[in-house]
Amino acid sequence: MPDSLLTLARTGGRELARIVYDEPTIAARVDEMGQEIADAYENGEPLLVLGLLKGSFIFLSDLVRHIPRPLHVDFIVASSYGSGTTTSGQVNLLYDPSISLEGKHIILVEDIVDSGTTLSRLVPMLEERGPKSLEICTLLHKHIAANLIREPRWIGFDAPNEFLIGYGLDHSEDFRNLPFIGSL
Ligand code: IMP
Ligand code: MG
Repeated sequence: MPDSLLTLARTGGRELARIVYDEPTIAARVDEMGQEIADAYENGEPLLVLGLLKGSFIFLSDLVRHIPRPLHVDFIVASSYGSGTTTSGQVNLLYDPSISLEGKHIILVEDIVDSGTTLSRLVPMLEERGPKSLEICTLLHKHIAANLIREPRWIGFDAPNEFLIGYGLDHSEDFRNLPFIGSL
């Protein structure tokens, strides 16, 4: 099947504006990031990779296979803050990591940093649990967040300010299974 028809089959006929990062581009960058992460931690130090669901699920599963050192994996599910909610409250955790964060190096894995609201709320909550360190790894960063509490240490790509889908990112739950990242 030609690529264009395969893409239409995947999107259910929806035309994408363009493919922003294709599969080989993503794979090459994820491989580099995995090595950079492994190089950043001393041997023997406990490392917990904490994936923020759902958006990070594909990135996280590729990334951990390219981090050549021992590590543990857990997940965190934060409620979406939606529209019209105030920015003062805490984000609610729908699933909380079952293992203790105390004394461990934590890498919080995000799909995309957009407004930065999610991270700005999650970072203080996780810091309270006494990790040895807490770093953020995001596949995409739009660099539009006005008051980001902490910059990610690892960024896959500096993304355009467009609505991106695929490779875990959704639009109303659609398109997460696209193997590339596109713009709607
Ligand atoms: P925030 O605005 O930085 O808090 O981003 C919160 C979440 O919104 C991200 O983790 C994504 O799940 C989602 N999001 C933000 N921008 C996009 C986008 O361009 N495409 C798909 N999801 C997005
Ligand atoms: Mg998300």
